[in-house]
Amino acid sequence: MTTLSRRLEGKVALITGASSGIGESIAKLFAEHGAKIIIADIQDDLGQAVCDVIGPSNSIYVHCDVTNEEDVKNAIDTAIIAYGKLDIMLNNAGIVGPNKPQIVDNEKSDFERVLSVDVTGVFLGMKHAARVMIPAKTGSIISMASIASSVAGVTSHAYCCAKHAVVGLTKNLAAELGQFGIRVNCLSPHGVATPLATNYNGLQVEAFENVIHLTGNLKGVMLKAHDVANAALFLASEESRYISGQNMCIDGGASIVNSALSIFKHPENI
Ligand SMILES: NC(=O)c1ccc[n+]([C@@H]2O[C@H](COP(=O)([O-])OP(=O)(O)OC[C@H]3O[C@@H](n4cnc5c(N)ncnc54)[C@H](O)[C@@H]3O)[C@@H](O)[C@H]2O)c1
Repeated sequence: MTTLSRRLEGKVALITGASSGIGESIAKLFAEHGAKIIIADIQDDLGQAVCDVIGPSNSIYVHCDVTNEEDVKNAIDTAIIAYGKLDIMLNNAGIVGPNKPQIVDNEKSDFERVLSVDVTGVFLGMKHAARVMIPAKTGSIISMASIASSVAGVTSHAYCCAKHAVVGLTKNLAAELGQFGIRVNCLSPHGVATPLATNYNGLQVEAFENVIHLTGNLKGVMLKAHDVANAALFLASEESRYISGQNMCIDGGASIVNSALSIFKHPENI
């Protein structure tokens, strides 16, 4: 890799939920691009294993339940103590909750748990990242939303609601932190075959990917965690230095298409 392609050289990034799936892929890609990484998760053994791959001199694992403010504060403070600053905060940790399509079957406790991780967890990550980024007058805060932030009827009510909220938080914070030179954005991927997605749908990896490809708009490409990591890399790097308040979709155009309306291309079938 050439120096020019090390797009995060000298940067420090904290990634929640990086023991698995999309977060793990982001952590490895950011490290390849020269960033020091703090992995904050509740799956300690998996998180430590990701650090072992990245290298102990370039990464630290911190146990952090994103719903617990003391844990989040401690994770951010670990970045400051170990590396002296925090340039990139990636609020990636998330859960989807039980797959119960009908609202009458949904438990209040399940709904609140999803909002606690997916919304309160993002709020706490934003708050404590802002605490250390404001005095530095620089930073990039990126949160993981989802295609469910704009397309309804695919995931649980709690998850759809939570991911809409992530977009709202992103916009509100971008408005507040722009004066300090801090950018705030979120990412909205389509389905990626991680444990979260395959367990929710009860599908193996290949079957899940086939469904996404079949129902997706863009053909000939299979969405992978690495594609989401590349978008995160763009929002973390100086290449996106004037981009803030945006919800970047990584969905091959799926969220802008209503495939049911394609029937108008063939009026003879109406
Ligand atoms: N996989 C998809 O299809 C998809 C699509 C769009 C958005 N997303 C979002 O991407 C993000 C990452 O999900 P993933 O698909 O990689 O799933 P994943 O299950 O592989 O990873 C999620 C990680 O979050 C961690 N986590 C869960 N609760 C936590 C908590 N309270 N505190 C700290 N960490 C916690 C888990 O331990 C895990 O390591 C989530 O926000 C998810 O909503 C996923």
